[in-house]
Amino acid sequence: MISKIKNIIIILLIFSSCNKVENNTQNTYKEKYRPQFHFSPPSGWMNDPNGMFYLNGNYHLFYQHYPEDNVWGPMHWAHTVSKDLIHWENKPIAIYPDGNNYIFSGSAIVDTENKSGLGNGENPPILAFYTNHDMFLERMWNETKEDRYIHVETQHIAYSQDLGNTWIKYDKNPVIDNPGFRDYRDPKVTWSEEYKKWFIALASRDRIIFYLSENLIDWEYISEFTGLGEMNGVWECPDLFPLVDEDGKKKWVLFVSINKSSPNGGSGTQYFIGDFNGKEFIVDENFLGDEKSIWIDYGSDNYAGVTWNNTSDNLKFRKFIGWMSNWKYGQLVPTSKWRSAMTIPRNVTLIKESDRYRLKFSSINLQKIESTSYEETVSSQLNLEESLNRILLSEISTDSFEINFKNNKENLSIKFSSGIFEIDRSNFQTETGFDDNKRTLELGTFRKRFINKQTANFKSKVSSLEILLDNSSIEIFVNEGSLVMSDVFFYNSRFNVIEFSGLDDSLIEHQVLESIW
Ligand code: FRU
Repeated sequence: MISKIKNIIIILLIFSSCNKVENNTQNTYKEKYRPQFHFSPPSGWMNDPNGMFYLNGNYHLFYQHYPEDNVWGPMHWAHTVSKDLIHWENKPIAIYPDGNNYIFSGSAIVDTENKSGLGNGENPPILAFYTNHDMFLERMWNETKEDRYIHVETQHIAYSQDLGNTWIKYDKNPVIDNPGFRDYRDPKVTWSEEYKKWFIALASRDRIIFYLSENLIDWEYISEFTGLGEMNGVWECPDLFPLVDEDGKKKWVLFVSINKSSPNGGSGTQYFIGDFNGKEFIVDENFLGDEKSIWIDYGSDNYAGVTWNNTSDNLKFRKFIGWMSNWKYGQLVPTSKWRSAMTIPRNVTLIKESDRYRLKFSSINLQKIESTSYEETVSSQLNLEESLNRILLSEISTDSFEINFKNNKENLSIKFSSGIFEIDRSNFQTETGFDDNKRTLELGTFRKRFINKQTANFKSKVSSLEILLDNSSIEIFVNEGSLVMSDVFFYNSRFNVIEFSGLDDSLIEHQVLESIW
C-alpha cells in the first residue's frame, strides 16, 4: 500500500513538474520587459555576439551564454539561426566550457577550400576561433602575480563538419599561444580577397594585434595598432574589414570595443577608418579631426558588436549586431529569467562626409515583421492641436513599434511617457530631442537605478529619424544611421502617450510590430 501511494506521489510530482516546464516554455518571450522584435536568449545570461557567419541562406549567430543563471558565469557559445535577421530559431548550445576553461568571444569562418584540412569531404568545414580563458590561471595570477600564471588567455579552434550544427574542439589547440599578457582575446578572422590571406585581429590591453595565415592553422604575427582613440580601459572584441564607398573607393575599418570610458559611461565601441596594406592598419590622417574618438553608437547599450563573415557583396555593406547592454549594470537589470538582448541588426556602409570617411549604421528593414501600419500627416489627418501634438497609445496593447519622421523642422522633441496629462517623473519616462541650433541629439532615459541623460553632437541637418521601441529598449537612427543611440530602460507602467513638439507638416509613419516569437 505504502509503495502504491509512493508511486502515485511520484507520478503526480512528475506530472506537475512536466506541467511547470510546459508553462515556463509557453510564457517564454512573454515576460515583463521582454523585447518582442529583438533577439534575446530564451533563458539565462547573454553577452557578446560571437562567431557570426552566413551560409546557404542562413545567418548564424552565436553568443556568450551562461545557461544556468542570469548573471555572467562559465561561458558557453550558444547558437541561433535566422534567414532574415529578424526571426530566429534557437539551436542547441554549440561549444561547452570544459572545467576551468571558459569559451570566451571570437568569430567563425567558412573554409570553402578546406585549407585547414579539417573538412570531411562532404561539407566545407566551419572554423570557430575563440579565446580559451583559463579560470584556474586567472585565480592564481590574481593571487600571486607570478609570470608563470599570466597565460590566462589563448586562441583556440573548434570546427564543424555539418554546416554549423555540431562542433569539435581541435586537438592541437592552442593555435595562437599567449605571449605573456593577461588580456589577450576575442580573435576576429577575416578573409582578404585582395591579399588572398586570412587575418586575425585580437585585443590585448590597449592595443589590437594582427596575425596572418594561409591555412588557418599556422598564424604569423604581423603588427599592432595602438595610441589613438579612447585608451582608458581594456580594448576588447575588434573587427577588421574592407568597405567601398559609393564611388568604389576602398577603405579598411577597425572596430575597437573598450570596457569603460565610453561617451556615456561604461562600455562602448569606437571605430577607425584607414588603410590596411596586408601588414599594418594606418588610420586616415584627418579621420579623428578634433574628436578624441568616433563611436559606433552614442547611447549606452551597444557593446562588443562585430559584423557577419561570408555575406555576399560584403564590400558594399556588412551586417552588424551588438550586445544591447553595458558592463556597468548589465548584470543588475530587473529581468528574469533571462538577461539582455541584441541590438537590431544593422547595415554598415561607408560614406564620405566633406573630406572624411564615416560609417552609417542603418537598421535592417523591419517590413518583414507583420505589422499594423499607419501613415499620417500630423497636422491634417491626426488633427492635433498645435500645443498638444501627441499620439495616444491606449488602444495599442504593446510597446513594440517603429516610428519614422521625415522633413522634421528644427528643435524637434519627442517624449514617450506613461502619464497623459501629468508626467510623473517617478514613473519611467524617455525623452529624446534635437536642438538644431546646437546640433545635438539628447536622449534621457530615466531608469530606476541608472538615471542618465545622453548627448551626442551632430554636424549635419536632420532630415530623417527612425525610432525603434521594444518594451525595454529604444534605438534612434538619425539620417538613416549617420548617428545612432541605443538604450535600455525599465518602466514602472507602460507608455500611453507619445508627444511631439517642433513638428509641422512632418510626415510620420508608425508601425506597431508584432512579436517575432
Ligand atoms: C566583452 C568580453 C570579452 C570576453 C567576453 C567574456 O564583453 O569581456 O572581451 O571575451 O566578454 O564573456
